[in-house]
Amino acid sequence: MALSMTFLGHSGFVFDDGNHKLAIDPFLTGNPVAKAKPEDVRCSYIALTHGHEDHVGDTESIAKTNDATVLAAYEICNYLGKQGVKKLEPGNPGGKINTDFGWVAFTQAFHSSSYQGQYMGLPCGLIVNMGGATVYHCGDTALFSDMKLIGEIYKPDIACIPIGDRFTMGPELGTRAAEFIKPKVAIPIHYATFPGMLVPDASGFTPTGVEVKILEPGETWRYG
Ligand code: NI
Ligand code: MN
Repeated sequence: MALSMTFLGHSGFVFDDGNHKLAIDPFLTGNPVAKAKPEDVRCSYIALTHGHEDHVGDTESIAKTNDATVLAAYEICNYLGKQGVKKLEPGNPGGKINTDFGWVAFTQAFHSSSYQGQYMGLPCGLIVNMGGATVYHCGDTALFSDMKLIGEIYKPDIACIPIGDRFTMGPELGTRAAEFIKPKVAIPIHYATFPGMLVPDASGFTPTGVEVKILEPGETWRYG
């Protein structure tokens, strides 16, 4: 078992276990660093951390093109259902949803969540079990000490940690987050997308005892 992770840029990924593909926060249209186009994305599942435009991104079109199942906060699923997305798996922090490839659990995140001014429920982190690996995608969040507890409970192999500052942790707090979570590998996300708004590089992300893997948009990395 192995997990391939393709970084879409910003907070977006496509995870592939060889049988199933899961897109996370597929923000491509309007993403200045993205290499892929929405029509390039093939997946049977999409999971979202929260309702902001830079995370929901192209979910509606990708879900419809692929007849994909969307896993997201209850309110986001309600919204997407009204837009004609058929397969929806609503959740909320603390809960877990079993899937064909494994499971996805929702954790808390300290952030906000709205789409075009409409309330989209609680922002979440995602724990994904796929291809024999467990990945904690933190979503957009501030640092919180229960990241330690999340690390103890789920023992993630990989953590995707926002470090861009302003809307999320910056590199220093992201470093603390990685040290709380204690994954084998930490991937910095949510930086360098918007020049002048977000931190331009991951040089300040330096957790002790955790391997840092920097992925370029379009790059695929295989774990396991
Ligand atoms: Ni956000
Ligand atoms: Mn964001």
